[in-house]
This record gives sequence, C-alpha cells and structure tokens, in this order.
Amino acid sequence: MHRPALPVRVPLVTQPMGLLKSLSEARRNVLSIIPDVATRQPIVSGRTGKRWHMVMDPDAIREILLNRVEDYPKSVVTKNLLKPAIGDSLFIAEGAHWRWQRRAAAPVFSHRNVMNLSPIMTAAAERAVARVADAGPRAVNMLDEMVQTTFDVIGDVTFSGNDTFNRDSVHKAIDHYISEAGKIGLFDVLGFPDWVPRPGRIMSAAALDEMKQMADDAVTARAARGPDGTPDLLDLLLAGEDPKTKRQMNTAEVRDNLLTFIVAGHETTALTLAWAMYLVAFDTEVQDRARGQAQAVLQGRACTGVDVENLPYIRMIIDEALRMYPAAGIISRTAQKKDTLCDQDIRPGDTVMIPIYALGRHEALWDDPNSFRPERFADRRTIDRYAYLPFGDGPRICIGASFAVQEAVIILATMLSRFKFTAVQGKEPEPVMILTLRPEGGVWLTAEPV
Ligand code: HEM
Repeated sequence: MHRPALPVRVPLVTQPMGLLKSLSEARRNVLSIIPDVATRQPIVSGRTGKRWHMVMDPDAIREILLNRVEDYPKSVVTKNLLKPAIGDSLFIAEGAHWRWQRRAAAPVFSHRNVMNLSPIMTAAAERAVARVADAGPRAVNMLDEMVQTTFDVIGDVTFSGNDTFNRDSVHKAIDHYISEAGKIGLFDVLGFPDWVPRPGRIMSAAALDEMKQMADDAVTARAARGPDGTPDLLDLLLAGEDPKTKRQMNTAEVRDNLLTFIVAGHETTALTLAWAMYLVAFDTEVQDRARGQAQAVLQGRACTGVDVENLPYIRMIIDEALRMYPAAGIISRTAQKKDTLCDQDIRPGDTVMIPIYALGRHEALWDDPNSFRPERFADRRTIDRYAYLPFGDGPRICIGASFAVQEAVIILATMLSRFKFTAVQGKEPEPVMILTLRPEGGVWLTAEPV
C-alpha cells in the first residue's frame, strides 16, 4: 500500500515573492506566504506594503506575549473585523476593559466548572459514534462530523435548553461572518495596501442586529429564570463578577462574550479533532496503541471527564496534532514602541507575527519536526514552553484551553474505542489557512466498528 512518508504539510516559500504573487497566494492559503527560512531562523522580516516580522525565537516571543503585553497589543485590523459581530469582548478588548472582563470570566473556566460540563461532551461524543456507525460502511468526512460534534457541545454549554432561541441560525450566521472576515483579515495582517480588492459586505447591519437581538432575548430569559441544573457558561457568566471592581457584565456584555466563546471555541476544537483523526489514520501503529489505552480505560462506555487523566496517550495525540496543525496558525500584534527583537529593529506600527505553524515545525526547536510522534509529549517538562504555543501565552492565553483539551480527549478516546479508522486513498486533505488552519477537502475515513 502506498503511503506518503510524512503527514501532509504546506510547501513553504523558498524564494521571495513579488507583491502580486504574495497577494494571490495569500488569498488562497495564508500559510503559503510563510517563508521556508521561518522554520530555521529566529526572525524573518520584510515589507509588503508595511513592515512586518515573523518571530520564532522563544525568548523574543516571551517578551511579546508575557513581559511587554502593553507594547504589543493584538493587531487592530483583525479586531476591527470581528468587532461588529462579537463587540468589545474578552477576545478584542485591551487595557482596563479587557482586564476586568478576564477577571470576571476566569472562574467560568475553572477546573471544577469545566469538569461539571463534561457530561455534555460525553453525550455529544456518543451522538457522534451513533452517526458514524449509521453511515458505515461508507467513508465519512470526519471534518464535518467533528464540526457537528463540537457545535453540539458549544450549543449545549452556551444557550442550552432555550426553545425560543434558534442556535443553528446563530451558528450559521457566525460561521459565515468568520469565514468572510478571515478572507479580508489576512491581507491586513501583512499590511497589504488599501487597493487590494475586498470581498463585499460581510453581513448586513440588519442581519447582525437580528442575531444579537435573538441572543439578548435568550440572555434576558435566562437571567430571569436562573440556572436549571448544572450551571452552563451562560449561567456562570451571568453570575461572574470582577473580584477587584465588583463589576458584573450587563446583557450586551454577556451576549458578546458568549458569541465570542462560540467563535473562538467551536471551529478550533473541531479542526484539532479532525487533524488528530487524520493523523491516527495516517499512522495505524499509533492508532492501535491509542485504541488499546482507550478500551482498557473505558471498558465499552463513552469517555467521561474523570477518565481524561487516565488517557495520557490520547492527550499526547491531541498535543501533537496541535503542534503540527495549530488551529490558530498565526497570531498577530502591532508594535507600539521602538524595540529590538533578535537584533532586528522594531518600529511603532510594525506588524509582529508569531507563526505558530512554523514555530511547531522549527528545526532548531524540534527533532524531526515534520514527523508525527506523539511520544515527544510523554514528558511535558522537556518541551520549551515558548516553542509550543497552540493556545498562545501570557495574560492573553486562550481562556478555553482546558475546556478544549478535555473536550478533544473525550471525543477522540470515545471514537477510537469504538472504531478502526482507515484513510480513503487519494483523498489527502490539504492544510489551508484563512483565519484558522483547516484540512481542505475534508478528512475522509472509513470507520469499522471494533
Ligand atoms: C483547540 C481549540 C482552541 C485553540 C487552538 C485556541 C487558540 C487560541 C489562541 C492561540 C488564542 C490567543 C490569541 C492571541 O493571543 O492572539 C486564544 C484566545 C482565546 N480563546 Fe481559544 N482556542 C481554542 C479553544 C477555545 C475555546 C473552547 C474557547 C471558549 C469556550 C476559547 C476562547 C478564547 C478566548 C475568549 C480567547 C481570548 C482570551 C483573551 O484575550 O483574554 N478558545 N485561543
């Protein structure tokens, strides 16, 4: 059987591209403009309309994300694009307005709360197993399955149990918004000039207002009714309070942050799972070992929150999938002050990018970086923290990281314990990044019940 020696990857550019070439390449796949040298050098700088730098040096990244956060706020353009949909929420806000929201929202994602929400993840995993079993023996696009499964989760942990709220239409509206926003955003990240042709209006003001109104009604109804059983993210946000200022979120702030959780948490987790499934079908030895662990721990039942700590190999597969195919492939900042990073002058207004994708494949930081080897995560202490940043770092680190990891382990372990997955020949996905890093073409696998 023919099998490529390495899992799929993006051929990074080896020669400087002209502006027009960069533009047309970037429109299709932003990863294709990351130069090959970004996997060998600590910093790569250039000018494409505006000055930009890609930083791969762990010490310099620590400066940007941890020690000098105020000097390196998130890039404005991407934020402006998302703002009409998700407001000045946790993901977007800076300074004091970000700080109080982060303090108020932090307890929502405490270990205890995330664990309390795990039955919702288990139930979604069981529904995924049922759907895949029904589809057999046909091949299944695991990307679509995982998008459905993680949407089941995020839908049930945000606007759960609300009959009047049409979460599917909000979901579709948000997904559409994000994919359109991404198409514009990537040009601006690199500071391309203004004459670049732009896609039309993302979403009419009326459609946005309608979506927000629906969400507001759901928030108000819940505030009046109170929690019903285990508190979900909406209940927890409504109850949240900044311990310093005692400030609580009003309806619009709760709504913006809930929509943010849907935007930031749903597709990213689905993509991580889809890539993980691609990888286990690529390497059947890893798959067999993972199934062995899942079956030994689960004994025929679906995975629950308390099982997660007993499934270290499944966790290692998720960690490795996030290294090779980080859903957030590039994070971007705008420098506010003069600075020097890796001997390179940084000027106010420069775009400073951390290409998480290139960092995870950097030759100085990883042994055999293009190979799938979950064992590298067997001892987390051997991993340089600033060489592995699928969730970012510093104060703006992903607030939902442990939620996402728990969800991914529960779903992957449950699926592996029930099926043997085989890749469909000739249907390799292509890693393509617009805002997130997607397996273009889908992850087509056959699933044989075991
Ligand atoms: C595998 C799944 C996920 C990945 C790879 C991911 C990745 C990231 C990254 C890289 C950032 C930092 C962005 C930057 O610094 O520019 C971030 C921030 C954020 N993420 Fe996630 N994320 C995931 C899942 C989630 C989930 C499940 C939620 C919520 C339910 C979530 C909510 C957020 C929020 C609110 C922020 C902004 C935090 C702040 O600025 O204070 N994410 N995420």
